[in-house]
Amino acid sequence: MRSLAALCLLGVAAAQPLPTLPEAPDEAPEAGVVHVALEAAALPDPTHGYVYGFNGASPGPTLRARRGDTLVVELTNRLDTPTTLHWHGLHVPFAMDGVPWMVDPVAPGETFVYQFPLEQAGTYWYHPHFDTARQVDGGLFGAVIVEDPADPTPPDQVWIADLPLEHDPSAARPEHGHGRLSDAWWINGAPTPLTWAPPAGVVQRIRLINASSTGYLALPALPGVRRIGGDQGLLAAPEAHGPWVLGPGDRADFEWRPVDPAVWASDPYSLNGGPRWGDPWPLVEVTPQGEIAPQPMIQWAFDEAAPSPDGPADLLYVLSGSDRSGQWYINGERFPEVTIHELALGDQVVIEVRNLSPTHHPFHLHGHAFEVVSVDGVPPPHRRLEDTVDLGIGQTLRVRLNATNPGDWMAHCHILPHAEEGMMTVLRVLGE
Ligand code: C2O
Ligand code: CU
Repeated sequence: MRSLAALCLLGVAAAQPLPTLPEAPDEAPEAGVVHVALEAAALPDPTHGYVYGFNGASPGPTLRARRGDTLVVELTNRLDTPTTLHWHGLHVPFAMDGVPWMVDPVAPGETFVYQFPLEQAGTYWYHPHFDTARQVDGGLFGAVIVEDPADPTPPDQVWIADLPLEHDPSAARPEHGHGRLSDAWWINGAPTPLTWAPPAGVVQRIRLINASSTGYLALPALPGVRRIGGDQGLLAAPEAHGPWVLGPGDRADFEWRPVDPAVWASDPYSLNGGPRWGDPWPLVEVTPQGEIAPQPMIQWAFDEAAPSPDGPADLLYVLSGSDRSGQWYINGERFPEVTIHELALGDQVVIEVRNLSPTHHPFHLHGHAFEVVSVDGVPPPHRRLEDTVDLGIGQTLRVRLNATNPGDWMAHCHILPHAEEGMMTVLRVLGE
């Protein structure tokens, strides 16, 4: 399947250059406020992999702002179904979270204004949280980049990786005659492999988002590449050794000083057990151009902090279910028939997530970031803040959560068909 799809794509056209995503223009320049307009609509020509987009394209435009800014997004719904925007990884007020849980979705023809302060630097993304699996798979997603005014500013690029049409067989791709290309990665709306010809030796920051609903990237280390960021901005310490596994919803920032020609490929990896046999999937063919600039790697402000202590769990989430039944559970319950756990504002708790099912699940929580304090009892080497963490089969994850944001926060698997089939619950943080 995998190599067939590859041959098929290579047969269609030679590798094309990696596209640069447009950035949404600031509609009303005002200090400290970034004001953008997004229109969700069906794409006029859906033959290029996606059927929906924002402002006429998928992925939608990148929203770029600085920590401390207020983001104002005017969403107009030109779809024929309701939709919302969820700000994956950002601590927004509950009414801005884009979940149709006690807040109505945006009806067709309507406009809704999302507005919230940006308190976290890092690489985030936006996507609907209504009819989520279908709408996201159809192409409704884009990046939110929050720059830290204190960070160095090398050239900065956003790469959004996705498997188009993962589970919408009705949305056929006419040129292939079938509706699934689920092993073929696309980046920034174009099929891989893509070519990238950066200036040799010049350090770049690559912000990679896995917007796929089911696909895992497993990226081996390459000379001149180190991971500097994760879900929540800079890591506590850089990582020079891969493989870097990004499950659905995950992000990674890389500092990349391209010197020699190379191919960045994803090793075969799947939700059904992690690493597997097969050929790597070539994503980006890198051909550095010109004289090699004698530039050193950047001094980022890594804080090298140790992780907080592991501890007994205050709250337990057990993940179960199977592909065979097509039903997925948290604590034996399927959303929306779930027990709502309540925390008081300011509570500090340890949440344990146990995966007792036969597949991986990227566990995601809204409204908060959390700190990973152990995986199978082993603490990470450095402090690790996340909002989406993959759990392998049989794994137990423990995270520390400071309940700082009142609201009814979805906690779910970011394999979107799993969430749709029940693997979602609600963690309530009570107000003052
Ligand atoms: Cu990125 Cu509840 O989702
Ligand atoms: Cu799952």
